Amino acid sequence: MEHIKSPVHTGGGTPQGWVEVARYDQLGEDETLAIELDGCEVCVYNVAGEIFATDNRCTHGDADLSDGLILDGCIIECPLHEGTFNIRTGEPVGLPCTEALRCHEVRVDANSIFLRARPSAKELA
Ligand code: FES
Repeated sequence: MEHIKSPVHTGGGTPQGWVEVARYDQLGEDETLAIELDGCEVCVYNVAGEIFATDNRCTHGDADLSDGLILDGCIIECPLHEGTFNIRTGEPVGLPCTEALRCHEVRVDANSIFLRARPSAKELA
């Protein structure tokens, strides 16, 4: 699996809050891409051709999930302590991870990947 670290621009926002973050063909199957969205680090995943996005920082510690491994069943394994999360839902599925990741909305239009940030728990409080 390739981990792509690129300073992807987050220009091109729309009034509905969708931001074009990458080209679809930039991200191969089972690859991750770290991007910045509204000041947050986000990990974009290609799982068997489907695109997902979560916060990039593991909820357990100081590690970037974009450096982790995508396992069978839409699971991301953290590179630091090998905790796991469901990429579709952000739910932790393997210890030591117990706190869910924030997932972001994804839209693929032709060859462009658009994201819309979901508010954090702090922003909702
Ligand atoms: S930092 Fe991710 S499992 Fe510990």
